[in-house]
Amino acid sequence: MYSMRDDLTEVVYTEKKIAARVEELGFQITDDFKDKVKDGIVAITVLRGAITFSTDLCRCIDLPMEADFMQLSSYGDGHKSSGSVKIKKDVSSSITGKHVLVIEDIYDTGNSMQFLTNFLQSKNPKSISTAVLLRKDVENQIPFDIDYLAFHCPNEFIVGYGLDYAQKYRNLPYIGILKPEIYLS
Ligand code: PRP
Repeated sequence: MYSMRDDLTEVVYTEKKIAARVEELGFQITDDFKDKVKDGIVAITVLRGAITFSTDLCRCIDLPMEADFMQLSSYGDGHKSSGSVKIKKDVSSSITGKHVLVIEDIYDTGNSMQFLTNFLQSKNPKSISTAVLLRKDVENQIPFDIDYLAFHCPNEFIVGYGLDYAQKYRNLPYIGILKPEIYLS
């Protein structure tokens, strides 16, 4: 019987490993943000890739937070960054004077995060912090200090736990490397 596992060369992060790391980050964020509750905390999840990470992470943060969403477009359905970032969906509520936690699935070239943090800064939040599931180590990456990073990952075509290939495989509960024949065919 077919399994999505058959489309992977290997599993890089298992469900268990991801859950343990996400819980650690949640505890850390809870501790770091406990004095920020009075100003308001907004978790901004970047659609669509970060949804799985975000729903797990936010349930490990024991503080009252608002949930908002943004959507950018840079990659389309292919697997190479186009370099230009556009807003498809802005936040729905005001973030002025509040503490923002941006939740992203992957930091690759850095174009998206650079664009996003500059854009959000123009709305005058009290602070911006970033939680990112994966950071790829690639050449010419824009330098950026991620506040809460789950894992460094290999520079391979990875899918699962929210990450897609042509909008598919986001529902894979773990993270793995896609077989080249899948995306080269
Ligand atoms: C992915 C990911 C980040 C961005 C990172 O988004 O979610 O937003 O690429 O790459 P960068 O550091 O090179 O900018 P994508 O456009 O694939 O959308 P998705 O989240 O809907 O999959």
